[in-house]
Amino acid sequence: MTRPLLDVRDLAVTFPTDSGPIHAVHRMSFSIGSGERVGIVGESGAGKSVAALAITRLLAPSARLSGQVALDGTDLLQLPRSQLRHVRGERIGMVFQDPVTCLSPRMSVGDQLVEAIRAHRGVPRRAARDRALDLLRSVGIPDPVLWAKEYPHRLSGGMAQRVMIAMAISCDPELLIADEPTTALDVTIEAQIIDLLVELSEERGTAVMLITHDLALLARFAERILVTYAGSIVEQGTVGTLYGRPSHPYTWGLMQSVTGVNEQRRRRLTAIRGAPPSARAIPPGCAFHPRCPYVQEVCRREVPELMVHGGDDHASACHFAGQLARPEELREVRP
Ligand SMILES: Nc1ncnc2c1ncn2[C@@H]1O[C@H](COP(=O)(O)OP(=O)(O)O)[C@@H](O)[C@H]1O
Ligand code: SF4
Ligand SMILES: [Mg+2]
Repeated sequence: MTRPLLDVRDLAVTFPTDSGPIHAVHRMSFSIGSGERVGIVGESGAGKSVAALAITRLLAPSARLSGQVALDGTDLLQLPRSQLRHVRGERIGMVFQDPVTCLSPRMSVGDQLVEAIRAHRGVPRRAARDRALDLLRSVGIPDPVLWAKEYPHRLSGGMAQRVMIAMAISCDPELLIADEPTTALDVTIEAQIIDLLVELSEERGTAVMLITHDLALLARFAERILVTYAGSIVEQGTVGTLYGRPSHPYTWGLMQSVTGVNEQRRRRLTAIRGAPPSARAIPPGCAFHPRCPYVQEVCRREVPELMVHGGDDHASACHFAGQLARPEELREVRP
């Protein structure tokens, strides 16, 4: 097997606080292949953003990290801070939910792109400017010469996110991490941005890790999906497997909460009862057990490991993975 581009092993993140430690991420393991598009989905508070910030070492120094995050064989968690600059931006690009706060209000869009290009690559200003215009064009900005002169506050949310994506890919990173990049946008613009990410990944061979709370969004984006709950991965599989044969009761709940996931019924199906646990008080055993309709005694005691139980590395962290019959209404769901 070829080495994955990103290989995360047993990643754990804890925030020490005066009122005790907050375990935001527990022993997460997953990998992303070169050029692969992976979706990470889960309700708010599942540890998705903390995991992304841990991978890029952007968490506050007080955060305690353990495990390994190998980018092409180099463990980023062991890398001296002085070398991280060459990883962020150059090898890993990042896009966040609110693009306007990530852009400087005092510089034109074009100048910011030129600075970003020149900071990592010692190219002359003129070459950087040409590249900035090419980048704006490649992210679908209609008149790059005109828009390059504009300041961020003049951009709509969708345009600002396109500019952020242009910044993130300006040094041709191997991996792009996009954390809820469309949450602040309306559904039409959201679809355009997701399509843009797919297009860029296919044209440039960039791997993309897309974080979202919206499982439906991943049908048009992901090749593989990781479902997270309370700081852990509870199910992983290809998009076809996850939609066609989901096996974790939490994934079933997420699917049932998606409006219109089952076109025939066209009704909002039952959402998951209760709320996700606080990272301060993760339930013992299976963290999902207080909300799970299939809970048994063993679930309250023993943590289920993420185990492969089907083809294509389909894995589930449930004591009864592969044994429970999924709800009737999820039988005909297709990506
Ligand atoms: N800097 C921090 N200090 C303490 N707790 C934090 C910090 N950042 C995040 N958390 C906690 O970690 C958990 C996971 O957060 P997050 O990764 O942001 O969730 P998600 O992105 O999946 O919605 C949450 O309970 C959150 O409150
Ligand atoms: S381990 Fe038990 S509580 Fe957890 S998802 Fe499976 S059946 Fe439900
Ligand atoms: Mg988040």
